[in-house]
Amino acid sequence: MVNPTAVAHDGLTIEDDWSGFVAGRYREGKSQAEFRNYDAAVVPTVAQFYKTNHELQTLDFVLEKEKEYLALKKGKMSIWEAAEFLNTLVDDSDPDTDLTQIEHLLQTSEAIRKDGHPRWMVLTGFIHDLGKVLCLYGEPQWAVVGDTFPVGCAYSDKVVFPEYFASNPDFNVARYQTKHGIYEPNCGLSNVHMSWGHDTYIGHVVRDYLPEPALYMLRYHSFYSWHQQGAYQCLTSEHDREMLSWVKLFNPYDLYSKGAAKPSVKDLKPYYDDLIAEFFPNKLDW
Ligand SMILES: [Fe+2]
Ligand SMILES: [Fe+2]
Repeated sequence: MVNPTAVAHDGLTIEDDWSGFVAGRYREGKSQAEFRNYDAAVVPTVAQFYKTNHELQTLDFVLEKEKEYLALKKGKMSIWEAAEFLNTLVDDSDPDTDLTQIEHLLQTSEAIRKDGHPRWMVLTGFIHDLGKVLCLYGEPQWAVVGDTFPVGCAYSDKVVFPEYFASNPDFNVARYQTKHGIYEPNCGLSNVHMSWGHDTYIGHVVRDYLPEPALYMLRYHSFYSWHQQGAYQCLTSEHDREMLSWVKLFNPYDLYSKGAAKPSVKDLKPYYDDLIAEFFPNKLDW
């Protein structure tokens, strides 16, 4: 049994259960009832993961993590250094069937490249999960992976396992449980605090270097209740709604590129070296 509060060196053991869960949950054309049935039948590790996540992702926790990490004082790393660092996270209990983190990144980016999308989007695919280095800083998995959701306002029942929010201390804070909570109506997602995880972090690390659609793909790729189910319209701005199509365009490459042939890191590295150099300085602040 996976302990979802286990720290980094225990690896991303929830990861494979979780990604299979997400792929099944968001298969096209599902009704709300089908979502709930699917969730109820899910493997216990995923349910336990979300129980912990929903209980502990309070507004105060998010504000603390934003303060800690968005200052970018963890050090300087190149994109490849971050990817190689992240690769040390792989769960080695099943090395033959699991993709490494770099292989998942390359499968995502190569699928985007094959479809002829712009170079910045290929690069976005390659870096989209680098925020998971948070695990290597010692953050527990419930504060790194999984679906994200706004904190400081009422929870949508379209967030996976909404029943677990009843155990979150914020559930008993009346001003956090109104429709808009601490936010102005349609204030825009840039003004909304999302549950803490790898999306916010990587989006912030690269914010000065990539075009805005890329930043939306990075920041909100795990915000499934918004991009797949249309929740939280009361917080989004007109601009967010324009950017939504980019986030939706990105999602299938993250979800469904798994299972394609294993990419060769060695063969692909020269292409990605050029691509990275086109957009990023040699080292970035993390
Ligand atoms: Fe991700
Ligand atoms: Fe991913």
